Amino acid sequence: MTLPERTLDSNETLTVIRGRHSVRRFSGREVPAETLEAVLDAANRAPSAHNRQAWRFLVVRGAKKEELAGLASSRASHFPRPASVLLRLAARSISSAPVVIAVANTGDLIRHGRSQFGRDDGSTVDFFRTMEIQSSAAAVENLLLAATSLGLATVWLGILYLVKDDVRRILGEPQGEFVAVVPVGLPEAETSGPAKRPLAAVIRYLE
Ligand SMILES: Cc1cc2nc3c(=O)[nH]c(=O)nc-3n(C[C@H](O)[C@H](O)[C@H](O)COP(=O)(O)O)c2cc1C
Repeated sequence: MTLPERTLDSNETLTVIRGRHSVRRFSGREVPAETLEAVLDAANRAPSAHNRQAWRFLVVRGAKKEELAGLASSRASHFPRPASVLLRLAARSISSAPVVIAVANTGDLIRHGRSQFGRDDGSTVDFFRTMEIQSSAAAVENLLLAATSLGLATVWLGILYLVKDDVRRILGEPQGEFVAVVPVGLPEAETSGPAKRPLAAVIRYLE
């Protein structure tokens, strides 16, 4: 199959993928509701193991957002560097962004898998938990790319996993575990992302 040349030169998806980079300080300007909904819809269209879509997107604003930022900064001193530094940075990102999307697993795939496999042992749970995390991670990446395509900035904050039970309590999620906390907004200043390793360093071709 021959691909038309313009596909590579002017492909919008590839341009968005190349343009995405983490932004950690936001201007605070609001994100229009329909833009945010388009971003959430993109996240919800991600592939998922057994198509269970075992994710929840928590849209966090106002006092709840400050509670999340407060958790990250107050718990920072409980951890050694660099975790403490990352938690403080995360708190600032959460505070400065107009809105934060937290992505949480529901545990539904784990329950479904256990009953489908008829097994409740550790390796079955570990398998389906991993599939659930991978599915939600795909949703997070969809979210980041959709936001980028709409001119929004994001950062995937994994460091809050260190205090995941408190995050879950603040978000009011009864079960499961969360995968990411993603502040979304306009960047405080124009920035660019770090260089990536050359393809030759990460690819191996086998026949
Ligand atoms: C699973 C995961 C967890 C991450 N956690 C954090 C975090 O806690 N704090 C942070 O500032 N960035 C975090 N990042 C963002 C990375 O630091 C960032 O993606 C990486 O440095 C590459 O930069 P880029 O996103 O601009 O390409 C995380 C990214 C991923 C995929």
